[in-house]
Amino acid sequence: MKQTDSMIRERILDLKKERSVYIIAHYYQRPEIQDIADFVGDSYAMAVAAKNAPLDTILVAGVDFMAESAAILCPDKKVLSPEPKATCPMANSITIADVQNYKRSHPEAIIVSYVNTPAEIKAVTDICVTSSNAAKIIAKLPQDAPIFFIPDENLGQYITSQLNRPMDMFPSRCPIHAAVTAADILQRKQEYPEADILIHPECAPEVIALADFVGSTAGIVDYAAKSDKNQFIIGTECGIMHRINQVSPGKELILAKEELICPNMKSITLDKILYSLEAMETVISVPEAIRSRAAVALGKMIAYAS
Ligand code: 13P
Ligand code: SF4
Repeated sequence: MKQTDSMIRERILDLKKERSVYIIAHYYQRPEIQDIADFVGDSYAMAVAAKNAPLDTILVAGVDFMAESAAILCPDKKVLSPEPKATCPMANSITIADVQNYKRSHPEAIIVSYVNTPAEIKAVTDICVTSSNAAKIIAKLPQDAPIFFIPDENLGQYITSQLNRPMDMFPSRCPIHAAVTAADILQRKQEYPEADILIHPECAPEVIALADFVGSTAGIVDYAAKSDKNQFIIGTECGIMHRINQVSPGKELILAKEELICPNMKSITLDKILYSLEAMETVISVPEAIRSRAAVALGKMIAYAS
């Protein structure tokens, strides 16, 4: 007999209790996955939640760098991924050689990497940031040192404009956010003139220039909850609408363009989570020589952000 979604959901809830597994999910996960998670958050909050997880096994419903961050920060815990092939093309676009080449010509530079990077890149990084804390952290770095900001040029340009601090940047972008155009936003604003425009900083500068609010996924959820407005144009992946609908019922959400879907985030399904809990697979581990160095960059992020 084929299991229905509600049977799968019940089985997941039973198994995670039986096997003492703490499920952490990103806001871009499918609604039914957010609903079975113990914690749902942005990339920064997910890393902190992993570090403070009350159980010894964590299942991360998110792309590979998110599960790796949990494994880096929690060497004594077992970290499970329901779909280890779920990855981030932007995170994978930079190589160790790119960082080493830059360091050779700028030995005094500070390497600042977005948390959307593989563990081996974090291991050659001085400090990590996420979109929720990048400006706060970079403002605390020595003023005279050059910064190499990797790998998201759109986020880097946004931080530069916020802090008025030039940085060298690696020329990569999130394909999902970079596909939003200023014309998309202007079209939506014409259709919904009263709506506030909420944009993720992975979007292009000309899109950010039209925003009423720019922030991480958690920032966007909070803004919509606190705002007096009832309509919002959402410039980030569609999964976030589930959480906004939960915390701000009755508010109208209009996606900035029709297809704002990260296929990697959506490759995780309830079926895969059930299998992961049944088999206690796939265990994510990072070789200790890489983990210990990456943990320094992630640990500094948490220290500087708080
Ligand atoms: P945040 O949840 O930190 O805003 O990150 C967005 C993102 O694209 C993660 O892949
Ligand atoms: Fe990577 Fe963009 Fe998908 Fe986030 S939304 S995982 S940055 S491709």
